[in-house]
Amino acid sequence: MNKIKSILVASLGMTLGLASCDTGNIRRDPGHVYAPDMTYSRAYDAYTSNPNFEDSMTSRLPVTGTVARGHQLPDHLKEGDTTAYKTLTTAMRFSADELKEGGRLFNIYCGICHGTNLDGQGPLFASGKFASMPANFKDAKYLHMPVGQMYAAVKYGKNMMGSYASQLDIKQRWMVIAHIKKLQSENGGDAFIFGEGVAPAAKADSAKAAAPMMAKADENKKK
Ligand code: HEC
Repeated sequence: MNKIKSILVASLGMTLGLASCDTGNIRRDPGHVYAPDMTYSRAYDAYTSNPNFEDSMTSRLPVTGTVARGHQLPDHLKEGDTTAYKTLTTAMRFSADELKEGGRLFNIYCGICHGTNLDGQGPLFASGKFASMPANFKDAKYLHMPVGQMYAAVKYGKNMMGSYASQLDIKQRWMVIAHIKKLQSENGGDAFIFGEGVAPAAKADSAKAAAPMMAKADENKKK
């Protein structure tokens, strides 16, 4: 009897053992999960729909009227309002490093068309593959162009030039424009105003990060 029992146990063991062998098929079913809460997240993934919100978006938009840390206040420019373009300016002033960064960004995003030396003969245009002549910033037509108009061109694009609003944030747009204005000032353009230590022309635009704004609020309190 004992013999039969051990044979049965042994064959049962072998069957189970063989059954667990790889059958050659790829198993997609993970089988039993030890801690399902850890395997299957209960949190909503960023881009999935979500019944907890009216608009079904799991990724929430920033609260209206808030500004992310380290970012600038919105510029309140309206597309097509060319009068506002011309008067828009900024109180931002840039260090030598920031001007250098403006130049780097210009060479990445604008130089391909406008030329790294601003002459409008960037490689894309010079190759003949881009039919529309990019602005030649050394030309009298552009030497004295209001900075706000330049800003609008970067934000909204202009005719054949696309918008660079998604590539460059507000500060970066101004750094790029500062770079253009600096080179223009060396080529017969207006005196350069974006350098540190130059008094801001318009104080209406306090397009600065939160910290300087607080300082400004303190300043106003003292008045
Ligand atoms: C794909 C080519 C191309 C690129 C890249 C490009 N531009 Fe332009 N840009 C043009 C063309 C073409 C015009 C002329 C538009 C017109 O007046 O019809 C122009 C015009 C302008 C003007 C004059 C706007 C006006 O009101 O007349 C400014 C300022 C300017 N670009 C700045 C920039 C800056 C800054 C960048 C980089 C962030 C840039 N552009 C990138 C093609 C380009």
